[in-house]
Amino acid sequence: MKAAYSMFLFIMFLGVIFITIGTIMASKTGSFLGLSKLQFMELRSKYGIIMMFLILIHLTMNRSIMKKELEILFE
Ligand code: HEM
Repeated sequence: MKAAYSMFLFIMFLGVIFITIGTIMASKTGSFLGLSKLQFMELRSKYGIIMMFLILIHLTMNRSIMKKELEILFE
């Protein structure tokens, strides 16, 4: 379950790379794959919200590991 979720998150992360490169390319040349810089920025903000929730779920799933790491960090 956890492994499947991590894989899903990784695939969604490829989308982050795509939209980020798209935004940079559209900033330089005016458009990328038919989308303007503004359209990429709008897509990015919507995708960002989805990623925010997915990462929140990810953090919840890994909270016990994170708690242990924090204990080691501040021991
Ligand atoms: C978006 C792409 C990401 C992928 C594909 C990913 C994948 C993974 C994987 C495979 C693990 C190991 C799980 C385990 O050991 O059971 C992990 C652990 C963890 N991730 Fe992520 N992660 C991503 C983003 C993030 C982000 C943005 C945060 C923080 C805001 C985060 C926080 C953590 C924490 C706290 C752990 C557990 C601690 C650890 O193993 O060191 N991850 N992640």
